[in-house]
Amino acid sequence: MKRKSVIKIGGSLLFTENKDLNVEKIQNFCQIFKKMNYSGSHVIVCGGGLIAREYINTVRSFHGSEALCDTFGIDISRINSRLLISSFGDFAYPLVPKSIEELSLALLFGKIIVMGGLQPGQSTTSVALEVAEFIQAEELVILTDVKGIFNKDPKKFDNAKLFKTLTYNELQEIFIESSGDKQAAAGEYRIFDAVSLQIIKRSKIKIRVMSGKDLKDFEKYWKGDENINCTIISE
Ligand code: UTP
Repeated sequence: MKRKSVIKIGGSLLFTENKDLNVEKIQNFCQIFKKMNYSGSHVIVCGGGLIAREYINTVRSFHGSEALCDTFGIDISRINSRLLISSFGDFAYPLVPKSIEELSLALLFGKIIVMGGLQPGQSTTSVALEVAEFIQAEELVILTDVKGIFNKDPKKFDNAKLFKTLTYNELQEIFIESSGDKQAAAGEYRIFDAVSLQIIKRSKIKIRVMSGKDLKDFEKYWKGDENINCTIISE
């Protein structure tokens, strides 16, 4: 079957709570793609995770600008991408595209592409949306450390309710309600940032936000099973 997919994997999912690389998780993630090897275009966008935040906080303590902090986040997301590429071996395109032009070249090889950040002022979720828009993906999957989008922080509130579906306008309302000043600082862009909301609205990309913690839901999804816990964002 031919598919066009974009998957964003949050950098936090690549590390254990002790900030060690989660080697088993990385291998399992790549294995899911290797087992069900759909033809088509598949781009994985990798986040920066805890390590990116550590670098960003240190650069900020040196009074580095937010744009400079962002560049550290971008570099770490690219290092994380290289790690995934090395785990994929021959299945993946060997280089990390650093621009949409480089991505268009990489797509010609028909392999899985893994990439990180592109430019300061946004999150890797925005990159994933830019890529989904560019390749005209059927949908974007965002793997994060919770089961989707909740009405309040599920890490703090036991009674937080998972939204099964959200419209673009509902997502925007939630974003506006929950965003404080820190939202737009390097390393602090939440699942969705301002840039990503703009792209969602102009291109009407269908998005699934799901947990990538144990990868069971993602594996079911990748095999075509729709019956999973997640939030679907669409028009
Ligand atoms: P993210 O914050 O998107 O990665 O990128 P993450 O750690 O995976 O986030 P979660 O797990 O989804 O929350 C790391 C940092 O890299 C910079 C930003 O500072 C961002 O916070 N970045 C990333 C950019 O400046 N531009 C990009 O295109 C991507």
